[in-house]
Amino acid sequence: MTLQTMSLRTLLLLGLWHTGKRSLASAPELQDPPKKIAVVGAGIGGTAAAYYLRQEFGTGVKIDVFEPGIVGGRLATVKIADHEYEMGGTVIHPLNLHMKHFVERLGLLPKKDVPSKMAIFDGKELTFEESDWFIINFFRMLWRYGFSFLRLQLWVESVLDKFMRIYQYQQYGYSFSSVDRLLHAMGGDNFLTLMNQTLEETMMGEGFSQIFINDIVAPITRVNYGQSVRINGFVGAVSVAGADSGLWSVDGGNKRVCSGLLYYSKSELIPAKVTSISVKVRPSKTGTTNSFYEVSYVGESGSAYSLYDIVIIATPLHQGKSDITFSGFSPPIPSHYPGHYHLTVSTLVHGLLNMSYLGTAEPASKFTVSDILTTDSNGSVINSLSSIDPIHIPEGYKRPPASKTKVWKVFSPKALSQEQLQNIFISWDSVSETRWLAYPLYGLSHRKTPPFILHNRLYYLNSLEWAASAMEMSAISARNVALLAHHRWHGQVGKIDQEDLQTRLRGEL
Ligand SMILES: Cc1cc2nc3c(=O)[nH]c(=O)nc-3n(C[C@H](O)[C@H](O)[C@H](O)COP(=O)(O)OP(=O)(O)OC[C@H]3O[C@@H](n4cnc5c(N)ncnc54)[C@H](O)[C@@H]3O)c2cc1C
Ligand SMILES: *[C@@H]1O[C@H](CO)[C@@H](O)[C@H](O)[C@H]1NC(C)=O
Ligand SMILES: *[C@@H]1O[C@H](CO)[C@@H](O)[C@H](O)[C@H]1NC(C)=O
Ligand SMILES: *[C@@H]1O[C@H](CO)[C@@H](O)[C@H](O)[C@H]1NC(C)=O
Repeated sequence: MTLQTMSLRTLLLLGLWHTGKRSLASAPELQDPPKKIAVVGAGIGGTAAAYYLRQEFGTGVKIDVFEPGIVGGRLATVKIADHEYEMGGTVIHPLNLHMKHFVERLGLLPKKDVPSKMAIFDGKELTFEESDWFIINFFRMLWRYGFSFLRLQLWVESVLDKFMRIYQYQQYGYSFSSVDRLLHAMGGDNFLTLMNQTLEETMMGEGFSQIFINDIVAPITRVNYGQSVRINGFVGAVSVAGADSGLWSVDGGNKRVCSGLLYYSKSELIPAKVTSISVKVRPSKTGTTNSFYEVSYVGESGSAYSLYDIVIIATPLHQGKSDITFSGFSPPIPSHYPGHYHLTVSTLVHGLLNMSYLGTAEPASKFTVSDILTTDSNGSVINSLSSIDPIHIPEGYKRPPASKTKVWKVFSPKALSQEQLQNIFISWDSVSETRWLAYPLYGLSHRKTPPFILHNRLYYLNSLEWAASAMEMSAISARNVALLAHHRWHGQVGKIDQEDLQTRLRGEL
């Protein structure tokens, strides 16, 4: 057979396959459901994917979730003295509806709220300190920044309004084949423009002053993403929304959501690391061919492989995050996409704070600030310093003042040296350091996000992180790929990439 006849036959086959698929669209029941689905990674993304896949495909399909580490991934806790503390992803926004739904569905509870207070440190002194009195904060901000801080709220609300549309689309079963299409469905060209501009450019365009951006906005992007206001406008808006009031965590630790979702979805957890994925073509009963994905993995009991109809990758395909070889794909799928993950070192110290480090003369016994953010000053060593509470708040708990030995969490771009620790703390009895490749390094050069669809039935969840990284973003992406996998399996093209959903769904309500 010559190459030419070969490609002609391939084209014909493809054409037939396409018409076959289209005729199935009106009678989706004709297509057998998939038998086996693999999910790679058991963080919030992978476990939420297992949950939504079960919801879409029903009880008949076997779902395997691969995880070599601890279920939860970047949601993790550490024990210090007598209590456990969050050391990765911590706070959840009150409008994160998927996280809220999971907690309710799994019978978990939000952690009891302990009022927090914020301050801003410029490397020498505290330039702002929140008072217990709202009215004092209001006038202090008004005095310094005019109405900028009120406008900030309005701007975040307008972005959030559009963001919230995704929940309605997903409720109606709509899915999107790329990050750009998903963002466009939520916020139109406006959201794509946010991805094309830095937060700084966006806010200058909205009329915010450079001083306000440096003094108030930069500390927020530094604590949330360890980066400056040169991150893209979309993740910037998510970051600023993440400084809202009403933030919460899960009682007993956020990672309980992940193990809960695994259990609830009746998936099997395979404690192994996936090393490679390849396509295998097999003849089927009806005389045509079927293709499967062969997933190879290494666990404690050695290496093995299994065949799957559908595979969801729920770990970043980036340097230092995972190392999966894709073979037999055309066009090829890379192990690592362009761009890097940002290093954030999280240091939990059970110790006594050195008040003079903060350049304040306030007595430590009166100092009850919980979150100290920092400005982007020359040679600033830390991104933030927070007094943190355990994952379960005991009855009658009150956050101790700075005069007591307690647990502080420091975020920094590099590991703290002994000398730096000695400068920040007077004394300590334990230090626990975690080096996270925490979230993407958001510049504009990688604004072309990786695809959701890597191959026919092979999907990639973490590409949405390049718009913004958060628990809720992984949950939204999980539901999107579960819907996408379902609709593509059954040829329901009418539920993929629909334009104008906003106006159409208004009619359906
Ligand atoms: C310090 C820090 C603070 C944060 N703060 C917040 C916050 O306050 N609020 C918020 O919403 N978000 C926060 N985030 C971001 C949030 O934690 C992440 O966006 C979210 O947890 C990502 O979940 P995921 O499941 O997509 O990825 P991950 O949690 O990274 O899960 C991927 C999993 O895949 C596994 N894996 C990797 N390679 C393989 C392989 N080859 N085979 C099988 N499994 C593999 C990994 O072990 C991992 O468990 C923070 C993150 C960090 C690091
Ligand atoms: C965003 O930038 C890309 C590349 O520079 C460009 O092709 C695209 O048109 C821009 N989109 C918007 C909405 O500005
Ligand atoms: C506390 O901070 C001040 C100011 O940075 C520093 O001079 C001092 O050495 C630090 N350590 C102690 C134990 O006071
Ligand atoms: C910033 O740091 C550089 C090098 O350490 C120094 O030369 C410069 O004077 C500093 N600028 C400010 C404003 O402190």
